[in-house]
Amino acid sequence: MHFPEHATTFARLREQVVGIDTKIPLLDGTLRPYVFLDNAASTPTFRSVLDRMAEFLPWYSGVHRGMGYKAVVATEVYDQTRRIAGEFVGADLSKNVVLFGKNTTESINKLASHFPFSATDIVITTAMEHHSNDLPWRKHCTVLHVGTLPDGSLDLDALRRELRRSAGKVRLVAVTGASNVTGICNPVHEIAAWAHEAGAKIFVDAAQLVAHRPVDMLPDSDPGHIDFLAYSSHKVYAPFGIGVLIGPTEFFLAGDPEYVGGGTVAYVGLDSVEWGNLPQKEEAGSPNVVGSVALAEAIAVLRSVGLEEIAHHEQRLLRYAIGKMRKLGGTRIFGPTEDISKKVGVLPFTVDGMDHALVATILSTEGGIGVRNGNFCAQPYMRKLLDVSPEEERQKRAARCDNPTLPGMVRASFGCYNNDEDIDRFIETLTKIVRKEYVGSYSLHPVTGMYVAKGYNVIAATHFGHFDPLRSSPAGREA
Ligand code: ALA
Repeated sequence: MHFPEHATTFARLREQVVGIDTKIPLLDGTLRPYVFLDNAASTPTFRSVLDRMAEFLPWYSGVHRGMGYKAVVATEVYDQTRRIAGEFVGADLSKNVVLFGKNTTESINKLASHFPFSATDIVITTAMEHHSNDLPWRKHCTVLHVGTLPDGSLDLDALRRELRRSAGKVRLVAVTGASNVTGICNPVHEIAAWAHEAGAKIFVDAAQLVAHRPVDMLPDSDPGHIDFLAYSSHKVYAPFGIGVLIGPTEFFLAGDPEYVGGGTVAYVGLDSVEWGNLPQKEEAGSPNVVGSVALAEAIAVLRSVGLEEIAHHEQRLLRYAIGKMRKLGGTRIFGPTEDISKKVGVLPFTVDGMDHALVATILSTEGGIGVRNGNFCAQPYMRKLLDVSPEEERQKRAARCDNPTLPGMVRASFGCYNNDEDIDRFIETLTKIVRKEYVGSYSLHPVTGMYVAKGYNVIAATHFGHFDPLRSSPAGREA
C-alpha cells in the first residue's frame, strides 16, 4: 500500500483531525468549537484515515477466504497492515506474531487465557494498572500487586524485592507502559531485564504509550526485550475496532486457541480437529480488515510527524497546562508536576471542595471542554492517590446507593493535535469553576449519578437527523 506524504507541522496535523471545528451548544445558548481533552480515553480520527478506508473499500473482500481477485488483494493489504502494526513498536516479526483483535482489553484477556498457568504460578502486576491489566490475570493464577510511591510512580525497589522473593514461581510481570490516570511512564526495559533474570516474561500494556512516545520491543536477544505487548487503534487516531497483541510465535503456536471456529483450523473431522497456522489460529471469524487499514494509515501519519517530536510537543502542552493551573490555584494535581519528562500528557486533578463529576459537567456545559472524570477503570490506584480510607469509601457508596459515585478525579489528556488555545479555553472555564463564577444551576440525578444543568439537554438526534433511532423506526414514528 502506498502512503502519501503527510503534514509535518502540528498546525497542519490539527487540520487533519475529523471534527476539529465541530461546534457544540453551551448553557448560555451560544455555539462554540468543542475542545477535546479526553485523548487518553479515545482519540479522534485523522482525515487521511477516512480517505484510506474509502480508497480500500471498493477492494474490500473477506480475507483468507477465497481466490477471487479482491479477496487476494484484501488479504495482501491485511497482511501488510499486520506488519506495519508490528514494526511500529519494533517487533522482530521473524520470531513474533501480531494478532489483531478488537482492543487492548480483549488482547490481555487472550494472553491471560493462553498462558499455561498452574494454580501456584504467580503474575506480578502493579497497583497502578488499568483494571484490564489486573482482572484478566486474577482469573488464572496468583496475582501480586507491587505498590506505588506517594507521587504515584511505581515502587521499583519493591518490584525487585518481589521478583527475588518469587523467583522460580513468577511467570510474568504485567506492567503498564504509561498510566491512564497519571501519565507516568514505567522503565519497561529495566523491568524486563529484572523479570528475565527472575525467569519470568514481561507484558507491557502500551495502550497509553504508543501514540505518545517511540516504543521499541527490542530484539529477543536483548535482556530488556519486551516479550508481549498490546495496544488499541482507538487511542491511535483510528477508532475502528482493532486491538494489537504481539508475542512469540512459538508461544501462540502451542496450545488451543481461545476462540475456536472459522479460520482457526487446518483440518476438522467429526471427532477431531487440527489447528491452523498463525495468525489465523488465534483470529477466529472474519477479521476487521477495514479497521486494520485505518490503523496502518494512522501509524503512517504518526511516523511521518515523528514520535519524538510528538512526545516533545505533548510535554510542552503539559508543562503549559500545569503552569497555568498552578497560577490559578484551588486545584490539586496528582502525579509529578516538576519533573514531567517521564510522563505522557495526562493531567489528573481535583478542584478543592467540589465533586469531580460536577467539575467535568461544568467544563462541558459552560466551556465546551470534553474531559473524563471518575476513577478511570483504575480504582485501587485512584484510592491510593486520593488517600481514601475504606470507611470513607463505604460511607460515600452508601450515600449514593442508587448509583454510587466513587471517589475520583477529573482528567485532561492531550493528543498530538491539541494546542495552547485548547489549554487556554480549558483554563478559562476552570477559572470560573475555581472562583465559583459559573452560572448554571446543577443537580445530581438520583438514578444516573450524573449532574444536570437546569435548562440544558444533550439531544443526540438534533445532530444526526435521520440516524435518530426513534424517527427511523415505525414504532418510534407513531410514538
Ligand atoms: N482506558 C481508557 C481511559 O482511561 C478508556 O479512559
